[in-house]
Amino acid sequence: MTKKTKISNGVNILAIETSCDDTCIAVIEAKGQKRPCFKVLSNIVSSQTEIHKKWGGIYPSLAKREHQRNLLPVLIQALKQSKLLKISNFKFLISKQISNPKFQIPKPNIDFIAVTIGPGLDPCLWTGINFAKDLAKKWDLPIVPVNHIEAHIVVNFVDKVQSSKFKVQNFPAIALVVSGGHTQLILMRDFGKYKILGETRDDAAGECFDKVARILGIGYPGGPAIAAQAAKTTNHKLQTIDKLPRPMISQKNYDFSFSGLKTAVLYKHKGKKYVKEMCKEVQQAIIDVLIKKTIKAAKDYRVKTIILGGGVSANKELRKQFKSKWEHNLLAPLKEFSTDNAVMTGIAGYFGKPKNWQRIKADANLRIC
Ligand code: KG4
Ligand code: ZN
Repeated sequence: MTKKTKISNGVNILAIETSCDDTCIAVIEAKGQKRPCFKVLSNIVSSQTEIHKKWGGIYPSLAKREHQRNLLPVLIQALKQSKLLKISNFKFLISKQISNPKFQIPKPNIDFIAVTIGPGLDPCLWTGINFAKDLAKKWDLPIVPVNHIEAHIVVNFVDKVQSSKFKVQNFPAIALVVSGGHTQLILMRDFGKYKILGETRDDAAGECFDKVARILGIGYPGGPAIAAQAAKTTNHKLQTIDKLPRPMISQKNYDFSFSGLKTAVLYKHKGKKYVKEMCKEVQQAIIDVLIKKTIKAAKDYRVKTIILGGGVSANKELRKQFKSKWEHNLLAPLKEFSTDNAVMTGIAGYFGKPKNWQRIKADANLRIC
């Protein structure tokens, strides 16, 4: 049965995401075309945070090795959680698969595989793609290649059980994708119709959080660590530290720059005593720039909807301040779908097209348009 004929009855999608340091596999059920409806059957994220913590950043070759180790157990867990494969002894299945390469996991009730092909870290992307190709060959399934940035956007159209937020009249919309690798403002006219309005000229917002956290010695990933420290201070005026710059905030474009902010923290940091204050100020500087530029784009393009996506969109303060400054529609993903996961890959895959698996390759610098 082709993908098209099955859509009215719903399709089951196996989604694989390995663009950065999390090994993610999910199974989702999707149906409907004008108002798609999604059900998350399983969502496994195997985080490598502990491994990369001591370096304060991600080492691609280390991340690749971990993906290679994790993919099979994560797949088995995802299939088990989805209940699409009834297996009683999962440990046995893993050992069998490892000891006998010819052994095949029985084909589950899956219609196609969605896999992230970029943007991201090249060796990590390839690990997920090769894994997907292997499964596709064994199970005779089509593969749909997915853009990671698009996935961060479209995950907004699902909630935990069924899609309830989805509304066609949300378009056009402005999407702000803020992650460890990207900061982009995108005009979204419809599913699959995007235009990048602006992006960072140097560090991404999440990268700035991570680098500042390293300077302050408060842990990795930096975003949640800085948010937690910032929440501890009640000092609203912050006279104890110098104000940080708000890079490019008044420029008449939609671009960003965050590397100067990190340098400013390096020079203005006055030691351990003022870590909380510095965290609050750097978080506020990033929030000020993101909100001002996004609302400017929304007004210039006369859109009523702003969509947030990417790891930094998990930031509570960012969400709160967006809500108070933007009176129209604001879509933000469920917290577990802000940071990398494969549910978002599956949803983007539903809107994508299958491609001959031999021609699917990683593109570390893939653009959404
Ligand atoms: O989207 P993501 O999981 O991976 C990439 O595609 O890069 O984003 C990870 C980034 C990290 O830089 C992390 O510090 C940041 O998201 N992040 C946050 C928060 N949670 C994660 N930044 C600010 N506040 C948070 N609560
Ligand atoms: Zn991401």
